[in-house]
Amino acid sequence: MAIPSLTEGRGRVDFRFGECLNNSAVTKKIIAGNWKMNLTPAESVQLSDNIQFGLAHIPNSVEVIVCPSMISLSAVNTRLTGSSIKLGAQNMHPAKSGAFTGECSSEMLKAVGCTYIIIGHSERRHVLGEKDDLINQKMITALDSDLNAILCVGETEIERDQNLTFNVVERQTRLGLLGVSEEKTKSLIIAYEPVWAIGTGKTATTSQAQEVHCFIRELLRKMFPSFYGKIPIIYGGSVTPVNVESLLAESDINGVLVGGASLKADSFLSIVKAAC
Ligand code: PGA
Repeated sequence: MAIPSLTEGRGRVDFRFGECLNNSAVTKKIIAGNWKMNLTPAESVQLSDNIQFGLAHIPNSVEVIVCPSMISLSAVNTRLTGSSIKLGAQNMHPAKSGAFTGECSSEMLKAVGCTYIIIGHSERRHVLGEKDDLINQKMITALDSDLNAILCVGETEIERDQNLTFNVVERQTRLGLLGVSEEKTKSLIIAYEPVWAIGTGKTATTSQAQEVHCFIRELLRKMFPSFYGKIPIIYGGSVTPVNVESLLAESDINGVLVGGASLKADSFLSIVKAAC
């Protein structure tokens, strides 16, 4: 069954901050591949080589990021030296170092070439039990460490059915960014990833995505009145070469975070090319 947008089908949800003002001043399109817990280091190197080979030239208007698993970061980094493809990690611990078995710090990630970090992905929130306060600590450390931090927010299907999308997205954004100064938002990216669309093949329609992106932009305007227009808001959830063009055509969709379709060079390259 198709999931209705918030402003159709189940009654109009109050657009608390008024109409969407299309205030995006973001000039780059961000295309990030989240490889999740897939691929060995050798397979990751192969995929990153294939992506590099297929992208002889990346225009300045596009930022391409790959996020392999922790174990593959170092190997992929050595292959990306000299390339304009950026390296990101999928998680980190908020402390700089210490007795945190199994964890990895921002300094360690930077030492293997990471310049991006995904924080608060729904799989970490819903499968691994991460709460807003831990996500907030990670965001603070990541931004203080000069990593570009991608804060993921998004509602479950039940929350959307109950018209709670805006409440959930507002809570996750406000709490995730508690204590973050305007100055630090230069390295901030928000990823709107409706949980019901992740890995399910159910993509949000462009209008469903755009209405939440608009809401986030207006929320950022309240939180960061000087810089809100420059913060990229990207979409994630079953992005494919087929739907990416229409998503990127929306004024407040400044890029995409791609899971499944980033694991094959052909489909990821098609997605990147749609942004070029
Ligand atoms: P998907 O994953 O593209 O496989 O839906 C997106 C994500 O989890 O970031």
